[in-house]
Amino acid sequence: MARLAGKRALITGGTSGIGLETAKQFIAEGASVVVTGVTPANVERARVELGDGAEVLAVDALDLEAQRALARTVQERFGELDIAFLNAGVSDWRPMEAHDEASFDRLFAINVKSVFFLMQALVPVLANPSSVVLNSSASAHTAAATANAYAATKGAVSALMRSWNADLLHSHGVRVNAVSPGPIATPLYDGIPAEHHESVMEGIRAGIPLGRLGEAVEIAKAVVYLASDESRFTVGADLVVDGGVSIF
Ligand SMILES: NC(=O)c1ccc[n+]([C@@H]2O[C@H](COP(=O)([O-])OP(=O)(O)OC[C@H]3O[C@@H](n4cnc5c(N)ncnc54)[C@H](OP(=O)(O)O)[C@@H]3O)[C@@H](O)[C@H]2O)c1
Repeated sequence: MARLAGKRALITGGTSGIGLETAKQFIAEGASVVVTGVTPANVERARVELGDGAEVLAVDALDLEAQRALARTVQERFGELDIAFLNAGVSDWRPMEAHDEASFDRLFAINVKSVFFLMQALVPVLANPSSVVLNSSASAHTAAATANAYAATKGAVSALMRSWNADLLHSHGVRVNAVSPGPIATPLYDGIPAEHHESVMEGIRAGIPLGRLGEAVEIAKAVVYLASDESRFTVGADLVVDGGVSIF
């Protein structure tokens, strides 16, 4: 029996990396999936890779009205949603003195503000029961050099995850959990400014006890568990999947 048979799922940031791999796993497990992305070439590539199993929409996380429109689109398509994986995010690793107001605000707008307002718009669409999974980061639980502002956005995501259970578990039957990946080989690191790229990546690799970056599928499998009924007694968990980064 497929683990997500008959489930209706939304994945934000499903056009690349962890989100794209999770969309493939969800489809393989029997779910119907809507995914979002923003870069036209990635949206197009995801349409080809996911085929009929998914609807791929261009929705910019920086546009709050587009978040509300996304909730309406999902409602029109599915009626109700059983699973939401709020995963879209960007990284911007640099020494703290290299941040300015614009770089700080962009990180918080995409990684925190858009997650907050999309979740607000999704509340009336979420089925009872349903499972929401947020993509936080091991950076929220560790002290990695140059993570600073990015780590703060993920600390906020983990805090929202815990807090939303108080808002939604009893009243709406919504379980909220998070996955906190360690360094995973995805295009996320393309966003590191060129002048810091090599030193940042060197620092990241050196800090992974398993000796390698993780693969997107190693996070997607954890998300399948949190999204499925197998985790029905799991509420407010922040599942760290990081090759040991956060315990050494
Ligand atoms: N990779 C890691 O080491 C790692 C570790 C911990 C946590 N995470 C978290 O995992 C999540 C996914 O990252 P990833 O590693 O899979 O990176 P990725 O391959 O760069 O994927 C990021 C996804 O977010 C989407 N996105 C970015 N900005 C957006 C915007 N303004 N509006 C809508 N969608 C937007 C991208 O869409 P397009 O492709 O269409 O641009 C893409 O689908 C992020 O929240 C990240 O912080 C990653």
